[in-house]
Amino acid sequence: MLLHIPDVLTTEQVAGMRAAMVDADWTDGRQTVGPQGAKVKRNLQLPDASPLRRQLGEQVVAALTRHPLYHAAALPLRTISPRFNRYEGGGEYGFHIDGAVMSTGHGDEQVRSDISCTLFLAEPDEYDGGELIVSDTYGEHEVKLPAGHAIVYPSSSLHRVTPVTRGARIAAFFWVQSLVRDDGARRLLLELDTSIRELSAAGADQPAILRLTGVYHNLLRRWAET
Ligand code: NI
Repeated sequence: MLLHIPDVLTTEQVAGMRAAMVDADWTDGRQTVGPQGAKVKRNLQLPDASPLRRQLGEQVVAALTRHPLYHAAALPLRTISPRFNRYEGGGEYGFHIDGAVMSTGHGDEQVRSDISCTLFLAEPDEYDGGELIVSDTYGEHEVKLPAGHAIVYPSSSLHRVTPVTRGARIAAFFWVQSLVRDDGARRLLLELDTSIRELSAAGADQPAILRLTGVYHNLLRRWAET
């Protein structure tokens, strides 16, 4: 499920983050990937150990946690602390698949990457190129969103970022282990959840909504892994 999560951050929040990153020490993004990724990755990142990365990452996670659509779609169990990247001067990231299991950096805690998330922090007219291309069984999908908007997609998808030929593409990116491992099951739960909310808002029959809500929770009970 490739899903656009609108308005995760306000214009003011994006501006605050961008200002904080102006004088940051950006390092080579190849430091956080394996040999296969390093062959095709050309971008910059805030260093993992940077206090700025941690501080901005906490803001991103807090904003997403408050977002009802994100929560309903991702059903997050564990989240990798967000990283921040910058593509410019032809920087790109060729087709790759994200690693399946990652360390959170807290002791030996590990996260299975079910969902990949990119939060755009530059407006589309600030740069040329820099589209996120996600390839799935329905073909290739091109994603370039307004600053403050996010895209979530299955970590099992092949994806790439096209070369940035003007300006700079700045984004936050991270991975989530979901309560529900299977992407198709998460999609069914999101559709059911959305339908229940819409029926409820439309003043539908309460006993019917109650039964549907029970179905939602009983499916989640079947599928959730903690
Ligand atoms: Ni990736």
